[in-house]
Amino acid sequence: DKGGYKHFMAKEIAEQPSVISACLSAYLTESGVALPDPGIDFTTIDRLTISACGTAYLAGLTAKYWFEQVAGLPVDVDIASEFRYREPPIPPKTAALFISQSGETADTLAALRYCRDKASVVWSVVNVPESSIARESDLALPIHAGIEIGVASTKAFTCQLTVLLLLALKAAEDRGRLTPERRDDILTALRALPGTFNAALGRDEVIAQAARRLSEARDILFLGRGLMYPLAHEGALKLKEISYIHAEAYASGELKHGPIALIDKNVPVVVLAPKDSLFEKTVSNMQEVMARGGQVLLVTDSAGAAIAGNDVWKVIQMPEVPEILTPILYALPAQLLAYHTAIAKGTDVDQPRNLAKSVTVE
Ligand code: F6R
Repeated sequence: DKGGYKHFMAKEIAEQPSVISACLSAYLTESGVALPDPGIDFTTIDRLTISACGTAYLAGLTAKYWFEQVAGLPVDVDIASEFRYREPPIPPKTAALFISQSGETADTLAALRYCRDKASVVWSVVNVPESSIARESDLALPIHAGIEIGVASTKAFTCQLTVLLLLALKAAEDRGRLTPERRDDILTALRALPGTFNAALGRDEVIAQAARRLSEARDILFLGRGLMYPLAHEGALKLKEISYIHAEAYASGELKHGPIALIDKNVPVVVLAPKDSLFEKTVSNMQEVMARGGQVLLVTDSAGAAIAGNDVWKVIQMPEVPEILTPILYALPAQLLAYHTAIAKGTDVDQPRNLAKSVTVE
């Protein structure tokens, strides 16, 4: 049942305020982050190794920034199909974490089985609590996104991010890295996130307009720095999957090491850049793009738009959130851009060609 929406993907995008809210209520009590038994004690862990595929991998890549910056915990993130065959050494006091919407992805399950007797503990972040990956973990954390039908993952991604951020906060607390003030600021903003998401859904029409132009492109680049770098990859992945337009993501700072050669007036460049601590640097990369005729679509907030919104082709303005929450909120414009571009092209959004919802063979 599409609940009045044209596609499951549109329904699942719109459901995000309510599923993020469900996810928060499952893990957040008055007194802070609460995990199911047997719980997690980050003081016994020196290192985290994360493996996953596709969008779940990109949630893991985002989590690396959180765990390292907020909790000071070193994290390796791998594509599960690479991890499983590389025979990576697993040092003592390493926790292995697997992220999977379906909980049945063959490569992720194989990566988990590789870690079973080597890692101190095996955790998973899954949408299907009775899945193989959940069953074979010491602790499975459900994301409470509800059934996801659209082949392109949307609400599962933002709920994965929500759980991963809560885990990073728990790690920061356990390791004595979080002042009570900072903790309260983040938790307050997290509790407000469903409402913020709702407000951001109001940008749908502006995004649809921009997407009509994107749908005429042959190649599209996504740029981001820091927390926006994994999300640039998610934006490009989503767009490729459902609109079949070639899209690539780069860390903004990598542009001048090669990909800037691609820029001309026919290549739209989506720049994901809230007014965060790296904003000025991203803006200077964006100016390099514009100097070569590139058409920039800037996704930012009001402070960012005031500084850098004038000369770009289009601005999509998001509500302000603390920097740490930007990956969750900015997933929305990335999803909507892909969705509306696919609609403008007339592709089958819920059943894109060559793709299956659950990849149970390698
Ligand atoms: C992208 C997408 C895929 C999945 C990947 C992993 O929109 O849906 O990239 O994220 O196949 O699937 P799960 O999370 O079920 O392991």
